[in-house]
Amino acid sequence: MRFAKKAAALALASVMAMSLAGCSGNSSTTTTAATEAATTAAATEAATEAATTAAAEAATTAATTAAEAAGGVDVSNKKVGISIYKFDDNFMTLYRTELVRYLTEDLGFKPENVVVQDGKGDQAEQTNQIQNFITQKYDVLILNLVQASSAPDVTDMCKEAGIPVVYINREPDAAEEERWASEGIAATYVGCDARQSGTYQGEEILETSTKGDINGDGKVSYIMIQGDPENVDAQYRTEFSVKALTDAGMEVEELLMQRGDWDQAKAQQIAQDALTQHGDKIEVIFCNNDAMALGALQAIEAAGRKVNEDIYLVGVDALTEAVQNVIDGKQTGTVFNDHFAQAHTAGDIAVKFLAGESVDPVNMVDYSKVTQENAQSILDMLK
Ligand code: BGC
Repeated sequence: MRFAKKAAALALASVMAMSLAGCSGNSSTTTTAATEAATTAAATEAATEAATTAAAEAATTAATTAAEAAGGVDVSNKKVGISIYKFDDNFMTLYRTELVRYLTEDLGFKPENVVVQDGKGDQAEQTNQIQNFITQKYDVLILNLVQASSAPDVTDMCKEAGIPVVYINREPDAAEEERWASEGIAATYVGCDARQSGTYQGEEILETSTKGDINGDGKVSYIMIQGDPENVDAQYRTEFSVKALTDAGMEVEELLMQRGDWDQAKAQQIAQDALTQHGDKIEVIFCNNDAMALGALQAIEAAGRKVNEDIYLVGVDALTEAVQNVIDGKQTGTVFNDHFAQAHTAGDIAVKFLAGESVDPVNMVDYSKVTQENAQSILDMLK
């Protein structure tokens, strides 16, 4: 708890100031030894009392702050089970780190009561982990499913056990979300509307001096490196990035669309092969996330091409390396996938469930564009 630490530090500072005041008052006095002793005793007592009061106040403030932050619920003995689809994912690593920090430091959950499991990209393994959380009577679950399509089964498991569940990052389908609302199931989704991030990517291309048509042949020729296509984020980013171009009246030509599973190394290979095959025809490389844009950049540089001169490159997430590349002109743009706001919303909603409050089935956080103009301020905020 940052605030609590600050309050405790302030209390300590005032105690020290008071002790110092007590000492200096003492040394400058010319009263008799008895009076001096009495004064010292009184000063010490006053200082002690002040210290006790200050410490007690700090403790009360800290406790109140934790309770307030946690919506008035005492979360000190509540257990949160988290499962991430796989730990080996750049974006989800930032997300889970912030989620655990927020739950323990800001909301007041005990660190030993916040358990995070690695789904290792294996739905069967993850379902086992969830089953264990249920058997061990966890109070609330925060789940980043390996396969969003397993949400109905997982939701039913949790519902039967009376455990609320907050899905994050990989959105279950609309029918499932409607079921939670209509059947009054304590389940919800926290994420971002990936259509927005796709649209922003397309707009970033439109905002370049050539609107993406570097060779002036009247069309934007691109390759699309997709995340995991089962994931709605990948589907929408793919669709809406190109739609932004066509909506603006641009003609487009898709030279290649291939799945890179959100992975830097896979994207590097895909971009390398595409650059070999299509060469200068490629004007834009769309990547569904920044990890893959980092991989594509390695291939672009190896092929002797120059971003923002003879090729454009966009990603999503605002990983610090990618934002630095935007500043350095090595990536045209990215889109900030706000893991802070998503982690905080997920934590706050978990507490609402614990307080027995009802929760909307879908909770969306906004994306924001990252271009050369604002990249430095985004980077400062990320660090
Ligand atoms: C992020 C990707 C990440 C994926 C995991 C997406 O929202 O943009 O970087 O790999 O979520 O599901």
